[in-house]
Amino acid sequence: MLQLNKNYKRVTTNSLQEIKSKGDKISMLTAYDYTLAKIIDKAGIDIILVGDSASNVMAGHETTLPITLDQMIYHASSVVRAVERALVVVDMPFGTYQGNSKEALYSAIRIMKETGGHSIKLEGGSEIIDSVNRILSAGIPVMGHLGLTPQSIYKFGTYTVRAKEEEEANKLIADSKMLEDAGCFAIVLEKIPAKLAQKIASNLTIPVIGIGAGNKVDGQVLVLHDMLGMNHEFNPRFLRRYLNLYEDISKGVKQYISDVRNSDFPNKNEQY
Ligand code: KIV
Repeated sequence: MLQLNKNYKRVTTNSLQEIKSKGDKISMLTAYDYTLAKIIDKAGIDIILVGDSASNVMAGHETTLPITLDQMIYHASSVVRAVERALVVVDMPFGTYQGNSKEALYSAIRIMKETGGHSIKLEGGSEIIDSVNRILSAGIPVMGHLGLTPQSIYKFGTYTVRAKEEEEANKLIADSKMLEDAGCFAIVLEKIPAKLAQKIASNLTIPVIGIGAGNKVDGQVLVLHDMLGMNHEFNPRFLRRYLNLYEDISKGVKQYISDVRNSDFPNKNEQY
């Protein structure tokens, strides 16, 4: 299993296409800093997403809306310095591409120039297609993001499953095709019915990466801090926790406090 996509020394958008064509699966996780990006890159992850979920995970905001372009650039450049193999995708933050396509291109160029990232991701379909086209025309690879798009949370009003009704499902199918036809190299589908995600993945030639979209797509993405079990509060059905780092870190820190209080740390071997 770990050997799956190991033959790629450096994952590119072409490698992802190849992985899909072979019927293999693409692994993707978020990272926002140098240290964790280094670990997951060495572990063999295919794509590292510098997600705007940094707004929640790193900065403690309730939504992804407040994070700025400068803050995303800071996170992304830290990640890029660590990565040797994975394809790095950087989220365009809210307000940097929806207004007009010129501003979208300017924001995307800043991300590419100032971070060294390999591609950008933005949320939405037909509403932002002018921005997608303009960014693509500058030679910048674009990943789409449809379904639950957290930057539109105040329009949706809730984080529940999207596209359960036919009208929304049909728009999603049309948007995914539009993004593929425009030239996007992949699409993330977030929190939609598994059957719909399967239909979209089989309709498209580009890879479809799911989060809460079942396993009949071409790959999976999770927020790193969630899958490492670093928080207890976020419990969606799609989340599988592979570790319980909240407990492990808390245990380690409690032991340290106790050792310091008891003058057990440092001992003779830990001093000069
Ligand atoms: O920002 C993010 O972490 C994301 C993933 C949930 C796909 O967009």
